Amino acid sequence: MSVDLSVTFTGIRFENPFLLSSAPPTESESNIMRAFEAGWGGVVTKTIGMHPVVNVKGPKTKFLRTDPETGVLSMNRGRAGVLHSSWNWELISDKPLDWWIPRIERIKKAFPDRVLIASIMAGSGSDRELDHWRTLGRSCQEAGADGLELNLSCPHMDREDMGSNIGKDEGLCSFVTQVVKEAVRVPVWAKLTPATSDIVLEAGAVFRGGADAVTSSNTFPSLPLIDPDTLEFEIQVEGLVSSGGLGGPAILPLSLAKMSEMTRAYPEKSFSGIGGISEFGHALNYFLLGCGTVQVCTAAMLDKAVGPNVIKRLLQGAREFFERSAASGLVGFADAIGKRRTRVVPHSRIKRPDAAEYQGGYEPQEGYAEPVRS
Ligand SMILES: Cc1cc2nc3c(=O)[nH]c(=O)nc-3n(C[C@H](O)[C@H](O)[C@H](O)COP(=O)(O)O)c2cc1C
Repeated sequence: MSVDLSVTFTGIRFENPFLLSSAPPTESESNIMRAFEAGWGGVVTKTIGMHPVVNVKGPKTKFLRTDPETGVLSMNRGRAGVLHSSWNWELISDKPLDWWIPRIERIKKAFPDRVLIASIMAGSGSDRELDHWRTLGRSCQEAGADGLELNLSCPHMDREDMGSNIGKDEGLCSFVTQVVKEAVRVPVWAKLTPATSDIVLEAGAVFRGGADAVTSSNTFPSLPLIDPDTLEFEIQVEGLVSSGGLGGPAILPLSLAKMSEMTRAYPEKSFSGIGGISEFGHALNYFLLGCGTVQVCTAAMLDKAVGPNVIKRLLQGAREFFERSAASGLVGFADAIGKRRTRVVPHSRIKRPDAAEYQGGYEPQEGYAEPVRS
């Protein structure tokens, strides 16, 4: 049986709903071309800005792995162990807009049926900065981008009026979204930061500004660990470190919680889910909670830079899932999206044990202790 994996999301048709997120896998023309050859339904380019960008000296990303026997968690013990997360302090693309424009044109010419979303970022503190958003948005649209994703979420910006500092401010993120919406025709997605106390507020703000979708999560603010032998941070430059972003398996449940809050608050709106996806089961969580597309970074970085095996697994997993579920009425993504959204409820709605099971705290077994055997 052939399964149709296509979706329409914010008015854009995707051959499949699996995208590479804005990050190293989409930082160049050759990577994006290879990604489309491998089967990804879409890409979000590495974030494009107007300001010159200089990254820190040395590695910009490392991968934390854990030894299941000892629990040791480290970035610096090679590839042994199980992947826990990625940690990065990389900035946006260091390539200027005029480097990107001909490349976007060539990519869209080579792959007219695949979706290219341009991720863009500017400031919000002056009219000049707001003009940067307009210039970036219009230029990418004219080059053929199918949509825009506003980076309101980069976690390592010192500037008060950029990145997650916009995403943490309801007024600013609503206003910036509105400025871009008024300047372009293509759909506009807003990528929010998970580093706020109530992401539903920022989601509401960008929807009020006209966003066609919310994307979440960017990486979670975090520090690398300190090596117990050297007492140095496992990633540092001349002994110094700053907060960076955590991605990969460790953030899957965290990101799902953020997404669930938003999809319950705005069940009619569109969401693109990111965070910790490396196989179809992970992605399915996002779809069932209400996302219409999903995006991948860390797993793709670790698989030949653009994830040819990851997309193969995602497509295969999706086909098998819909073949298995056809009898129960799930034949394509449209049937699955949001199916488990309303199962997340306030804690007080979860059933308690009945009187026979609950003994007022005097149950014979104490907490997690091993039961006493007589
Ligand atoms: C090295 C690195 C660079 C990234 N650069 C960007 C970026 O330029 N723009 C952006 O919106 N997100 C960026 N991200 C965040 C990813 O797009 C994604 O939201 C995050 O890694 C969570 O997905 P994952 O768990 O699949 O890695 C970057 C992530 C990493 C690891």
